[in-house]
Amino acid sequence: MLNPQQKQRYLDEGFLVLPGFVPRAQVTALRDRAWAIVEAFDPAAGSGIFATDDASRAADAWFLGSARTVRCFFEAEAFDASGHLRQPKALSINKIGHALHELDPVYAPFSHSAELAALAADLGLVAPQLWQSTVVFKPPRIGGEVRWHQDATFLHTEPITVTGFWLALEDADVHNGCLWVEPGGHRGPLRERYLRDGDALRMAPLNAAPWPTPHQAVPLEVPAGTLVCLHGLLPHHSAPNRSAVSRVAYTLHAADGRSRWSPDNWLQPDDGALPAGF
Ligand code: FE2
Repeated sequence: MLNPQQKQRYLDEGFLVLPGFVPRAQVTALRDRAWAIVEAFDPAAGSGIFATDDASRAADAWFLGSARTVRCFFEAEAFDASGHLRQPKALSINKIGHALHELDPVYAPFSHSAELAALAADLGLVAPQLWQSTVVFKPPRIGGEVRWHQDATFLHTEPITVTGFWLALEDADVHNGCLWVEPGGHRGPLRERYLRDGDALRMAPLNAAPWPTPHQAVPLEVPAGTLVCLHGLLPHHSAPNRSAVSRVAYTLHAADGRSRWSPDNWLQPDDGALPAGF
């Protein structure tokens, strides 16, 4: 799957960009399926506004209950002051999460494909476990910022093995909120942990190391079908989308079963049953 240079680049930089990893037809099928899930979503059945800087989501049962199902989350800016959607529902969704890889008839087979399994093995995941999947929409005009973070903050193991797979389902650039990364930043410390205590969630600081400065960050402007691999300690962020087009992506997070899943992660296995691999 990966050549020695690509493996070395991942080790050196903490991320790897693989253009054309997924064929155009499959990208279209995945993207169409995302829109179909949103179309079928009835906000009256429940909803949650997802914003990484909003402590109120900590208490959001909609979020905590999404670990083993497929739920839609609204953008923080989706509603006006009177509580009405500013844009059509299809252009108001922040994400779908968090078990598409287990339950969805289109996303599950993709998530368990031989190509992803081979890639994960090449990145060093010996006993991979798929923990979480999301479709992130970054809708036009109201797509929210995702501030600098490390995925190990949210999906923690000892030692840290969480690895992110980020698939562009639409072209991503600096105008519609592409990823930004700090090359080599995975050698830095884990700065914070997102801790669960019962149904309470909080962000706990661990290390005061500063987030990257603008000149340390590089944008990953990629066409649809590109897969980006992200080390769990790599600082990354994405800006708000104020453009007229969305920036849909599918993310999948795996950890190595040889590491210990932290019991205070927000996401816990049902009845102690650990998740399957690719
Ligand atoms: Fe992330």
